[in-house]
Amino acid sequence: MPIRTLFLFGTRPEAIKLCPVLRHLQASPELFEVKVCVTAQHRQMLDQVLDAFQVKPDVDLDLMLPGQTLFQSSSRMLAALEGVFSDVKPDLAIVQGDTTTTLCGALAAFYARVPIGHVEAGLRTWDMAQPFPEEMNRVLTGRLADIHFAATPWAAENLHREGVSRERTHVTGNSGIDAVLYVRDGLANGTLQSGIDWSFLNPAKRLVVVTAHRRESFGTGFVSICQAVRRLASREDVEIVYPVHPNPNVQDPVNRLLAGLPNVHLIPPLDYIPFVDLMRRAYLLITDSGGVQEEGPSLGKPILVLREKTERPEAVEAGTVKLVGTDENRIVNEAEILLNSPELHAAMGRVHNPYGDGHASARISSAILSFLRK
Ligand code: UD1
Ligand code: UDP
Repeated sequence: MPIRTLFLFGTRPEAIKLCPVLRHLQASPELFEVKVCVTAQHRQMLDQVLDAFQVKPDVDLDLMLPGQTLFQSSSRMLAALEGVFSDVKPDLAIVQGDTTTTLCGALAAFYARVPIGHVEAGLRTWDMAQPFPEEMNRVLTGRLADIHFAATPWAAENLHREGVSRERTHVTGNSGIDAVLYVRDGLANGTLQSGIDWSFLNPAKRLVVVTAHRRESFGTGFVSICQAVRRLASREDVEIVYPVHPNPNVQDPVNRLLAGLPNVHLIPPLDYIPFVDLMRRAYLLITDSGGVQEEGPSLGKPILVLREKTERPEAVEAGTVKLVGTDENRIVNEAEILLNSPELHAAMGRVHNPYGDGHASARISSAILSFLRK
């Protein structure tokens, strides 16, 4: 009998990182029966990814509320997931990352006495306030999980130090790198097209791509990030493209402080393939995103990270990612160093793949088989 796996996800990054894995399992129907349940913690941004990967969920809980609080989303999810587990009766539940869906999915599987596989396990900052609430979500998910798919040896070591056995930990690479390398290579060799007319970009200017959405930066952090973007946009040689996250705590300050500025394009979240294409065209990425921090090195793009701490230290240690926090002057100074020095920019912009080699899905598939078939 094939192993019945239930993939549970709800936000854009979980979908980008789980679709390659579930597509890989679907290719072996004699080994795996794949069921997909989306909480739709994100609605539009989730659908953008489901469309890109042509994935049709078996169950769509459609739970997103505008401006949802952590209490609302977590309580509604847990209540809705009880029936999913009793209907599907999976052999294994698979969750990814550190969102509310990740934690509630793992907790629901635990209550249903279903083993749990955690993709992108072992990331840590050891600071429960940064990122909030993701650090707690991943610590708790790690405690609930039965099999852990760590992207890097460092992440696996973090789990071992917490008492997770080596047999239950697999270093697989990050499945998000499976996705980005596939799209990068497809765009380069013409088998994929972004479908975007980029002629609105001025080729004489350096493109800076900005994304930001972290809860711990809401309020003063966002004001300061926007003021830094404003100052960078005042340079004649710079053009900024900022796909703005739909969270109202992001939309409000960004629209108030940046709308209508020359050299700044505020746009809705891009579909995944166009976003990778945009990153390929960039001179510099400024972001607080976990996924973009992982993708930038594979595209050879320097990244300034709008955070004080990261759970992804490998690229920082390699010198291709730099933490700059949310202080306006620090962001502007670090960006200007890279804009003014092609040598430093080239050193930070080398292509390397610290988070995966594009084969994470295959390793996760083998690890599931050895875990459940032993
Ligand atoms: C969530 C995750 C965060 C992840 C991020 C990726 C939690 C606690 N946070 O943060 O870890 O890094 O997603 O983007 O799980 N919205 C829409 N349409 C969408 C998506 C969001 O309108 O497609 C708006 C809604 O008003 C929604 C709000 O954004 O209520 C917040 O969404 P939510 O998932 O709670 O938090 P994020 O800030 O997106
Ligand atoms: N992304 C996208 N469209 C955009 C911005 C980002 O497809 O307009 C992708 C990006 O390539 C990465 C993921 O979304 O794979 C990151 O999602 P996000 O920053 O929302 O979440 P995080 O990774 O911080 O949890």
